[in-house]
Amino acid sequence: HPMVFPSSRVHFPKTSRRLPQALIIGVRKCGTRALLEMLYLHPRIQKAGGEVHFFDRDENYLKGLEWYRKKMPHSFRGQITIEKSPSYFVSPEVPERVRAMNASIKLLLIVREPVTRAISDYTQLRSHAATAILPLAESSGGGGGGGASAAGAAAAAAQKMPSQSLLYAKLQAAHGYDNTLGGSGAGAKETKMISNTRRVAPMMMTTTTTTPTPNAAQLAAKSFEELAIFPNGTVNEAYRPLSISMYHVHLHRWLEVFPREQLLVVNGDRLIEDPVSQLKRIEAFLGIEHRVRSEHFYFNETKGFYCLRYDNGDRCLRETKGRKHPHVDPIVVSRLRKFFAEYNQRFYELVGEDLGWPE
Ligand code: A3P
Repeated sequence: HPMVFPSSRVHFPKTSRRLPQALIIGVRKCGTRALLEMLYLHPRIQKAGGEVHFFDRDENYLKGLEWYRKKMPHSFRGQITIEKSPSYFVSPEVPERVRAMNASIKLLLIVREPVTRAISDYTQLRSHAATAILPLAESSGGGGGGGASAAGAAAAAAQKMPSQSLLYAKLQAAHGYDNTLGGSGAGAKETKMISNTRRVAPMMMTTTTTTPTPNAAQLAAKSFEELAIFPNGTVNEAYRPLSISMYHVHLHRWLEVFPREQLLVVNGDRLIEDPVSQLKRIEAFLGIEHRVRSEHFYFNETKGFYCLRYDNGDRCLRETKGRKHPHVDPIVVSRLRKFFAEYNQRFYELVGEDLGWPE
């Protein structure tokens, strides 16, 4: 009650949860997390905690904008709330839904050289698949070390399903053959289950490689080369890590709904090497003063990436960000770079900028 407070009390400005005024729409594995965390160094930026997946998952979208708003952090007036869900970029229904919420929203799209992105995507999917097959590997190989309790959800599911079909379902889900990204249904469930076990991935991965069942080993060991190129030498265009890298296909849909000026393309390869210069462009695009500076970063030799310096301490991104990529046959890399050359050109035309990716 206002009467009980002395009139000289300190006045705190009001905060409330607001719908985002800017979105990081993708592309997955291009540094979407790094970009969000780096922007959060700015006093005018507030960020949603996880990936909310409001626009791409019907079960969330149907809950309505109030549900979405309540997922947002508290902010002061004048601050910008940002959410990132990388699957927005590749989900056809999303641009129109975003426009219906806020036609003047600012969109951030971070990209990397498409073949590097595809290999990063493969690396992540393989690590998820390795996590998922562990319970099977353990039950046949025995003595899996510290991973037993961690087998959790995947182990429970394994008991309900014939082991082989579970294995295939997971690997297919992980590699996106069934278009699980942004989709719902069985495939999406599998992906969710995999991500629930992800916390313990590093330990489990080492266990898996030491005690695999033959089939699990065969499947998990499918190389990027095998998945990306058919035996007859043609490119497997339907392989999800490759089709997501066809940026022009997806961007085209966004530009049918939003004017070009409302979208900023961030160069993810440059963000890794020189975060400040990329952030400067983004601050200008968002209409906020230039505040994120080199003092906010230090290069961590062990991680091989820049880490962040907040007021309350230093922080690197998790170990799932900045994974070591497997060696990929240079012939395959150059075959894929040639394959992407034409697509990249179309992407440059759409954005009006040449990103200079190698052919
Ligand atoms: P890799 O793990 O393949 O190297 P996303 O968050 O969209 O999944 O992107 C993950 C990618 O962010 C990582 O891919 C990494 O290259 C990149 N990245 C950019 N800046 C980073 C940083 N400062 N620390 C860790 N990873 C960073």
